[in-house]
Amino acid sequence: MRIWIAAFVLALATPWAAAQAPIVIKFSHVVATDTPKGKGAQRFKELAEQRTNGRVKVEVYPNSQLYKDKEELEALQLGSVQMLAPSVSKFGPIGVKEYEAFDLPFIFPDRAVLARVTEGPVGASLFQKLESKGIKGLAYWDNGFKDMTSNKPLREPADFKGQKMRIQSSKVLEAQFRAVGAIPQVMAFSEVYQALQTGVVDGTENTPSNIFSQKTHEVQKYLTVSNHGYIGYAVITNVKFWSSLPADVRTALEGAMRDATRYANAIAQQENEQALAAIKASGKTQIVELTDAQKSAWRKAMQPVYKEMEGRVGKELIASIQKEAAAVGYK
Ligand code: LMR
Repeated sequence: MRIWIAAFVLALATPWAAAQAPIVIKFSHVVATDTPKGKGAQRFKELAEQRTNGRVKVEVYPNSQLYKDKEELEALQLGSVQMLAPSVSKFGPIGVKEYEAFDLPFIFPDRAVLARVTEGPVGASLFQKLESKGIKGLAYWDNGFKDMTSNKPLREPADFKGQKMRIQSSKVLEAQFRAVGAIPQVMAFSEVYQALQTGVVDGTENTPSNIFSQKTHEVQKYLTVSNHGYIGYAVITNVKFWSSLPADVRTALEGAMRDATRYANAIAQQENEQALAAIKASGKTQIVELTDAQKSAWRKAMQPVYKEMEGRVGKELIASIQKEAAAVGYK
């Protein structure tokens, strides 16, 4: 009799419990919490949970805790995680090569041009290309412009000769370093510190917020303020997961993403400026500022990458990014 009653209670309680169980969104990323992406993910979590009255629970996993670079995209495609914010270059290796256009040296003269690209038709059509991979693009988040670090001062293109430089997996970044005589080496973000410390690679490029939060400056003698390239993110989800959400939940999450995006993009520049100031203040690495002539020499040396890579990323795409720059007065 008792067993019978227990079974009856369980039968009643199970659907109730299922109805109450929150929808879990695992949001994995590879950088530190104290970065534009880390803070954006946290803001999305807060807004999403608040606006769905707890029907959604967002678990943020920073610092490659769950997956490293390439593995995280596979995990999203398989449904093991529901949200990621990889740097857009990371779509190259899964076949959406056009995104590597963002890696072209000096392609974005400033953030305003970048916003015209990501928030306009180019950004939307690039998102479209992810759908066949089972990926839905939700937003573009800024990080910022990259600097170079190494154990020798990198001032002239010739200074790169023979330097082993860590890169994210991107044919454009490979070409960029080959153009100046360096040896590019693809490596997961989480392995960079140790590789620099042990001399497996000589140097790397990244944004100040990543350099500072990964303590790269503690194992590199020089940092060249070059702003030669850009790192930004696409916040993505699994298409099937997203379309399986109840419509009201999806709408609330879209709103949370919109506001988290506004926040993340508003703080990115300042976060990077503060990180660069903190690197300078640490005194652990020497800062190299380029003269205008040196910067022009970098541009000139890296220029052949455009021609070399137009077959990979698309000549029209490069032209449409340049058109956005020309629209606001850049030549
Ligand atoms: C890198 O691998 O250097 C960056 O893409 C890491 C990141 O997500 O900012």
